[in-house]
Amino acid sequence: MAAADPGSPLDTDWRHGAFAQIFVRSYKDSNGDGVGDLRGLTQQLDYLRDLGVRGLWLLPINRSQDGDHGYAVTDYRNVETAYGSVADLDELLKQAHARGMGVVLDYVINHSAAQHPLFQTSRSDTTNSFRPWYVWQASAPAGWNVFGGNPWRSATTGSYYAPFWDQMPDWNLRNADVLAFHQNNLRFWLNRGVDGFRFDAVGVLIENGSGAWENQPESVNLMRDIASLVDSYSKRFTVCEAPSASLSYAQACGRAFAFGTQSDLIAAAGSSNSAALSRLAQAPAAGLSPFLSNHDEFAGQRPFDQLGGDPGALKVAASLSLLRPGTPFIYYGEEVGMSGGAGLSGDPRLRSPMSWAGNTSNGGFTTGTPYRALAANVSTNNVAAQAADPNSLLNHYKAVLALRNAQPALAKGTLENGQVLGSTLAYWRVLGNERVLVVVNTGRSASASLTVSGAPASANLQALMGSSTPLTANASGQVTLSVPAQSTVIYKVQP
Ligand code: NOJ
Repeated sequence: MAAADPGSPLDTDWRHGAFAQIFVRSYKDSNGDGVGDLRGLTQQLDYLRDLGVRGLWLLPINRSQDGDHGYAVTDYRNVETAYGSVADLDELLKQAHARGMGVVLDYVINHSAAQHPLFQTSRSDTTNSFRPWYVWQASAPAGWNVFGGNPWRSATTGSYYAPFWDQMPDWNLRNADVLAFHQNNLRFWLNRGVDGFRFDAVGVLIENGSGAWENQPESVNLMRDIASLVDSYSKRFTVCEAPSASLSYAQACGRAFAFGTQSDLIAAAGSSNSAALSRLAQAPAAGLSPFLSNHDEFAGQRPFDQLGGDPGALKVAASLSLLRPGTPFIYYGEEVGMSGGAGLSGDPRLRSPMSWAGNTSNGGFTTGTPYRALAANVSTNNVAAQAADPNSLLNHYKAVLALRNAQPALAKGTLENGQVLGSTLAYWRVLGNERVLVVVNTGRSASASLTVSGAPASANLQALMGSSTPLTANASGQVTLSVPAQSTVIYKVQP
């Protein structure tokens, strides 16, 4: 498949805006079958624009075998039947673009579903032309342990490598034909106007042996090439998922999720943990994307559950994440403090239907019966209730994102002069001549009175959030201000 870039209607800076991570199956059902779909998501685009996000990452929407999160792909060029059609995706793209938002698809490059037709052929005998498309050995080699288990799985014709699940066989990415297959799939979507990809499980693409299966140089190099394919199209976006090597992949892919930082953000917000605050005061490496939680349990429970439902701590966590450098990701429902699903455990607990309204039988998600239990706190923490409350978490997200969108230094400036003053974190976001001061008091009870350094001598500062009083720096560039408990204050140096 040849590249045929339809161009991008988005402004160049959309990639510096915050993203919403959307699980289509759980976002909004348009046809009453109890399962979310692309048309449902399209209906909610005004909400997402008003929230202030500039991009959407959709968990896999390809046809899949798992019938849930979609990472066992059976057809890379088609849309999960329950989600709709390729035409529905085209319409979603058009409508998202009209609202200034990009749409990024999850691309599962490491493995397919066992039911993928190519694996079905590959496993049928040892001589078929697709045999070398997957990773086969005559019998399982000894001594392997990946994610706590043996990744080699037995089939009648040999053993295949499948570390995640026996139904998720790894592609043989050393095979040039397999690489070309993926490149063509990516062009298929890019040529339709898709704005980029989140690449799944890139730490485990290529193995060099039982002691060398993770973050191998070949995997990093492969992703560098893939990212440049995506970048050959106009204004596209790449982010990689590599929990144990975020930095290497941030360099190779352009962006990678900041795994580890989510624990610091929660610990700082929940208990003013000083080690976490100190780490957050350091400038992060380029390309690291902060987030508070995602769809995988290993990254942590939903913030509401980790923070005991404390609305002040949830606002602090939001500020700490959204005001950092890098493209931040908001897991759907985080903005209203959705909890885990009632009575659920494991990953499904994190993947409940979106809480649009307080109706405890459908949460405003469907007119039918939701396919999965709703969030345990749907009656209190939902969009309808929070939209009406000026002090809600939702309105805090909106205010912070509106500021991030209006102030280039907050969207793409560096983090400088980070300071921990008791339970308060202060830092400057700097872009050219613009300097914006961010101060977040994570403490639960006391208002903090502080002196922060780093302003130009005698500068005047205008309040952008959390205060209406202008400040003037002294001759040493210090400003003194008071920040109420669990609140965020933002100032900008006046030219
Ligand atoms: C990482 C994804 O986030 C997770 O949900 C999935 O199960 C594995 N990769 C395998 O695709």
